[in-house]
Amino acid sequence: MTDTVLVVDFGAQYAQLIARRVREAHVYSEIVPAAISAEEVTAKAPRAIILSGGPKSVYEVPAPSLDPRIYELGIPVLGICYGAQLMALQLGGEVAHTGAGEYGRTTLARVGTSDLLVEWPSASTCWMSHGDAIATAPDGFDVTATSPEAPVAVMEDTARGLYAVQFHPEVAHTEHGQALLERFLHQVADIPPTWTNTSIIEDQVEAIRKQVGDERVLCALSGGVDSAVAAALVTKAVGMQLTCVFVDTGLMRKNEGEQIEETFTRQFGVELIHVKAQDRFFDALAGVVDPERKRKIIGELFIREFEAVARDLGAGGDGPRFLVQGTLYPDVIESGSGHAANIKSHHNVGGLPEDLAFELVEPLRLLFKDEVRHVGEELGLPAEIVWRQPFPGPGLGVRIVGEVTRERAEILRNADHVVVDEIKKAGLYRELWQSFAVLPAVRTVGVMGDGRTYAYPIIIRAVTSDDAMTADWARLPYEVIESIANRLIREVDGVNRVALDVTSKPPGTIEWE
Ligand code: XMP
Repeated sequence: MTDTVLVVDFGAQYAQLIARRVREAHVYSEIVPAAISAEEVTAKAPRAIILSGGPKSVYEVPAPSLDPRIYELGIPVLGICYGAQLMALQLGGEVAHTGAGEYGRTTLARVGTSDLLVEWPSASTCWMSHGDAIATAPDGFDVTATSPEAPVAVMEDTARGLYAVQFHPEVAHTEHGQALLERFLHQVADIPPTWTNTSIIEDQVEAIRKQVGDERVLCALSGGVDSAVAAALVTKAVGMQLTCVFVDTGLMRKNEGEQIEETFTRQFGVELIHVKAQDRFFDALAGVVDPERKRKIIGELFIREFEAVARDLGAGGDGPRFLVQGTLYPDVIESGSGHAANIKSHHNVGGLPEDLAFELVEPLRLLFKDEVRHVGEELGLPAEIVWRQPFPGPGLGVRIVGEVTRERAEILRNADHVVVDEIKKAGLYRELWQSFAVLPAVRTVGVMGDGRTYAYPIIIRAVTSDDAMTADWARLPYEVIESIANRLIREVDGVNRVALDVTSKPPGTIEWE
């Protein structure tokens, strides 16, 4: 059985980051709600528990609490920020409104001997974000570090295996933060670092074989990272039983179809059905300018195309009984129930008609995005697919303002290729969450040589983000903007002007439609 660490979620995004950091230390982690009972914890048999930070004060009503019997299970517990204060309060310590919270970089001073801070210097920088602070540690705890506004910045009860830190070891601004987590996991809780890409692949391959037996499996490839890695995993597990379907909507990025075909047909030897549905998509989109209608048309037509292939293959009868879906761990957590909603907002693989009655294969449902990428690399997928930036389900359709026509899609596809190519050349592609071109519905006047032009502007959109919920417009170097602009006008027919989108999210969205 996999050694597991439970990360108790006290709200906001803290728990996910902690869970990722634990996995970076090669230990499998799972996020659980604060309402988890001691019995439920016991049933999961974790090797350690981490209590996350959270946006509330322990004195707010209602503030999330923890079943106090969990501290008595003999499982090592590390409380972080809110989790630290809650532990102090629940075990008889004192938490005070000091009036002076700490936000941002703070100096941590060590005192006495510590199990957690073994190789730490006497003073180091850590990241704090708290209003309240632990004033008195509960009986049995030693205070092993302080900061200007947190008299109990770290406290430890080694006999009971209970530890608490007021700062955030999971954020990059805390020096030695990852070292602290690793110390807690590997030494204090004695968990070996065995959760690796290789072990993930082995576990999933075994699980897939067990689930599908010798039945046939169907997978929709979208050109995106998740579906590609999911398909590669299934290929490794049950190779010849897999049929992949790639529906070309005419709204894909440049060379996307060829790349999929090259990788899956020639490299992996998988059966691939390449549906060239461009004409049907452009026909359906003719005259449509409303963004929501466009999305709906694209989504529904995609399903119809996929359904036609599935029916041809005899789905439900002697055809495929299983459908691969690239559900990721954040989707599983966000669905709340611990079981991912069957339908992603992503049109590519969700929302299939019920009479097709597939059973889902979700080999990525335990993984975060970065893990998916590493697994993909290890499975031999090309870097170009594995490190591709996210791409919306409706494709270029939501980046073409106004009517989507074959000609306008071609202009945008070529422009997008130039933007991405220059961003890659500048070494910025992996740093940016997304970088792409947008085609507006206006045309502008220009001069070229002796002649007057009347053509489209292209808008450069580049953002940094961690999760697409918020995003900042990317401060691209002027030279990069310049080379993109020069090439767009020189190389892309139909373009005579270039603009840069400097809107963050909020108030803007990342996509234009
Ligand atoms: P917005 O534009 O809402 O986008 O800031 C947030 C993220 O979601 C992607 N996106 C989509 N992905 N189907 C998808 O699968 C969609 O309809 C869709 N719309 C937006 C977008 O690219 C960004 O990463």
